[in-house]
Amino acid sequence: MFIRFVIVSVFVVALAACTKPVVDHEAEGAALLAPLKKNLKAALIGGMESGPDEAISACNTAAPLIAGELSIDGVTMGRSSHKLRNSENVAPEWAVPFLQAYVAGTQTDPVAVELEKDRVGYVEPIMVQPMCLICHGAQLPPNIAVKIEELYPDDEATGFSDGDFRGIFWVEFPGT
Ligand code: HEC
Repeated sequence: MFIRFVIVSVFVVALAACTKPVVDHEAEGAALLAPLKKNLKAALIGGMESGPDEAISACNTAAPLIAGELSIDGVTMGRSSHKLRNSENVAPEWAVPFLQAYVAGTQTDPVAVELEKDRVGYVEPIMVQPMCLICHGAQLPPNIAVKIEELYPDDEATGFSDGDFRGIFWVEFPGT
């Protein structure tokens, strides 16, 4: 009788372990980045409607603000690149190998990774679209070039073509 109880208990425990929902860190990361992507796009499009100068100012002031506002409750996020415009957008250490893999073309998909202390990191590649070229392309309109040079004297983020890998969105959050 006791043996039977033990066997049943073991079975129940094993079943519970199997049915425990698997946490999908990639889906979690993508959901956390969604408002950052949406707000950045809105700031960029809103700025462009007022003229490229406004758009640069919007990127310059809004981008760090948006990322900062969304970085709460142990969640931090941002954008980075192998060719930085703003040197403060340097990638967190854990994301650097992924950045390099996207540049090398050995990685193309978003990826989640378990970090120390029950934390999770998630990165998504950002590709260049035609609308990005006015500020990141090979030939910038002179007024844009002047403004960017003024704000970012060490800018490396030009010379891109449509479809190029431009950088990453990254987010770090507590694992559950
Ligand atoms: C109106 C000009 C403008 C346009 C258009 C623009 N950007 Fe930028 N981009 C900037 C500025 C200015 C920064 C620096 C923002 C900051 O200080 O964080 C920047 C920064 C970035 C960064 C962060 C990494 C870094 O280099 O500092 C990425 C990634 C990026 N842009 C991608 C894009 C993509 C993709 C598009 C098209 C969808 C785009 N940008 C369109 C001006 C622009």
